[in-house]
Amino acid sequence: MVLQKIRKARRTLQLGLTSGQTGIYNRYLRENEGWDAHLTNSKQAITNAVNRFNPKSVCILGSGLLLDVPVDELLTRGIDLTLVDLAHPASIIKKYSLNPQIHFETHDLTGGLIHYLQATKLKDINFFTLINLVSRAKAYTTDADLVVSLNLLSQLSDIPIEFLKQKKKLTDWQCVELASTIQQKHIESLPKGKSLLISDILEEFYDERGSLIATRPTVFIDLSNLTQVQEWQWDFDTAKTYNEDAITKLRVVSGLVQ
Ligand SMILES: C[S@@+](CC[C@H](N)C(=O)[O-])C[C@H]1O[C@@H](n2cnc3c(N)ncnc32)[C@H](O)[C@@H]1O
Repeated sequence: MVLQKIRKARRTLQLGLTSGQTGIYNRYLRENEGWDAHLTNSKQAITNAVNRFNPKSVCILGSGLLLDVPVDELLTRGIDLTLVDLAHPASIIKKYSLNPQIHFETHDLTGGLIHYLQATKLKDINFFTLINLVSRAKAYTTDADLVVSLNLLSQLSDIPIEFLKQKKKLTDWQCVELASTIQQKHIESLPKGKSLLISDILEEFYDERGSLIATRPTVFIDLSNLTQVQEWQWDFDTAKTYNEDAITKLRVVSGLVQ
């Protein structure tokens, strides 16, 4: 029992579950200008979807710090908001927990992979168990009028895979296979005709002269059936703290899931 608790605390740290949102906030403060355009584009995509569907309720998956959500606008329009995240930041709970229009739900949207990695001995973790777990996981469901998957899709796979890579539990092709399975399950869980997806799809690395020197996909699944697609570039990290060899920009898409 004690050993299990220690393992869970250690894995929570190793998975970056507590530091992740702080990291996002610190980078946001540092990169302010570059992030503003991305956050404005994300908010605008949500506003456009709200104008289109006129929902009474909106469910935000990956709500986190709500930097990319036009919260005041949605509340003023009388919309009920359900915020879903693996862990809600204390500042957001404090700000909104008494607001009757806002509901918090805490879920692992990989369907339990995070909990499994927190609880399982390293020697028992293997690719086939992980793929089975993700493939058979029960998807999150909601009856909200509009569902927004918000800058979450790449994170869903990145968090477990970075940990598994570091622990040398997966080969390169297994990482891509597991990431694709997590991402495909997530897309399939979004109700068709009333869901908006916003996600980075590609990391672009630039040198000091502004030349593109490398790219890395962050999404491995087919998104060609999105409609009303918008695409933009997010100046993610100019200080080279994410990748010390390059300036990192992200290519982001938004679109309706059909
Ligand atoms: C890049 S942030 C999205 C931006 C966020 N809307 C904000 O403004 O902070 C990704 C969010 O997804 C959440 N997340 C990551 N993995 C998750 C999972 N397996 N289940 C649920 N939420 C997850 C993180 O906790 C984080 O808040």
